[in-house]
Amino acid sequence: MISSQNMWPPARTEPYLAPEWARGLAVIPRGRLRLARLPTPTERWRPPDADPDWDIWIKRDDLTGLVTSGNKIRKLEFLLAEALEQSADTVITCGGIQSNHARATAAAARALGLDCHLVLAANSAPVADPGLGGNLLLDRLVGARIHRITWEEYPERSAHMATVARELQAAGRRPFVIPEGGSSLAGCWGYIEAIQELLAEQRAHGWDWADLAGACGSGGTAAGLAAGVRAAGWPVRVHAVIVSRDVEYFRELIRRHWLDLGLGSAVDETVDLVPGYVGAGYGVSQPQELERLVHTARRTGVILDPVYTGKAFYGMISEMRANPGRFQGRRVLFWHTGGLFALFDRQDELAPVIRRMEE
Ligand SMILES: Cc1ncc(COP(=O)(O)O)c(C=O)c1O
Repeated sequence: MISSQNMWPPARTEPYLAPEWARGLAVIPRGRLRLARLPTPTERWRPPDADPDWDIWIKRDDLTGLVTSGNKIRKLEFLLAEALEQSADTVITCGGIQSNHARATAAAARALGLDCHLVLAANSAPVADPGLGGNLLLDRLVGARIHRITWEEYPERSAHMATVARELQAAGRRPFVIPEGGSSLAGCWGYIEAIQELLAEQRAHGWDWADLAGACGSGGTAAGLAAGVRAAGWPVRVHAVIVSRDVEYFRELIRRHWLDLGLGSAVDETVDLVPGYVGAGYGVSQPQELERLVHTARRTGVILDPVYTGKAFYGMISEMRANPGRFQGRRVLFWHTGGLFALFDRQDELAPVIRRMEE
């Protein structure tokens, strides 16, 4: 029999049944689309620079799909279900010019027969042709319409998306706006569900982690993971390595989502927001980060990205070494959240690092 799990795109939104431990949460999505390849592999990993007594594991959310790979597709399972429920015919979202979220949204939307408009920020003034580097190639291959803004304009991203939405409505379209990174309450459910996936693996195999760690860029992944472990009463700690903005911004975002879910506001009991690894700025790489990225690829075949996972992994290893007390134990699961395609826009920066290691 062909089920919706054997269909691409999925034939329809499924009614969503939350895990038992999450049924008391105040807001539960009605529907879910099966867009991600789940469960993703959960593997023991021996990255370079790890001390022998660390037991590091990796959750391969870089393998949630190909064009839709990375963490965003878990959120989009709920966000795009909401879009379809509202009979939208177009989605609008935003991010940096190399946004993985924008690319995953564009690809998933197209698969569902929806148009996609992307409000993307870059350093330079908008030009007629934004180019085809990295994620942009895929955005444009699937026919997303790009609206370029500058980083100075980015704080007003919601207003820019609202303008695009108004223009589309005036043309008779039905747009659905997805916030930056898909980090709305609905998006969080992608990572509340991911905790159910991990709990099932823990129970089936007896694996037990004391700590989870990963990149925090727009906050939804950390908010969802932390909400999941809190609601499930699982005593793991979530280390969210900040790669843009600051601790206060994310504490407030997570607190807001937790309050909406009825989880209270004691986010610090579950989440460790790790500052100090934005480095030279959001999306800007430092040589030591790229060196660890290349070193990790050469030693383990796992490809990190320069903007999120590369910095988060650098931060996790640095903290495990400098501040081991920050972690509850020595068995830590690194959540690989994807980002591969951004590398294809960084060849000039990576070339000297790769050449040096080849010598
Ligand atoms: C590859 C990758 N990893 C991690 C993140 C961070 O996730 P979040 O935005 O949910 O904090 C993002 C997006 O922001 C991303 O594209």
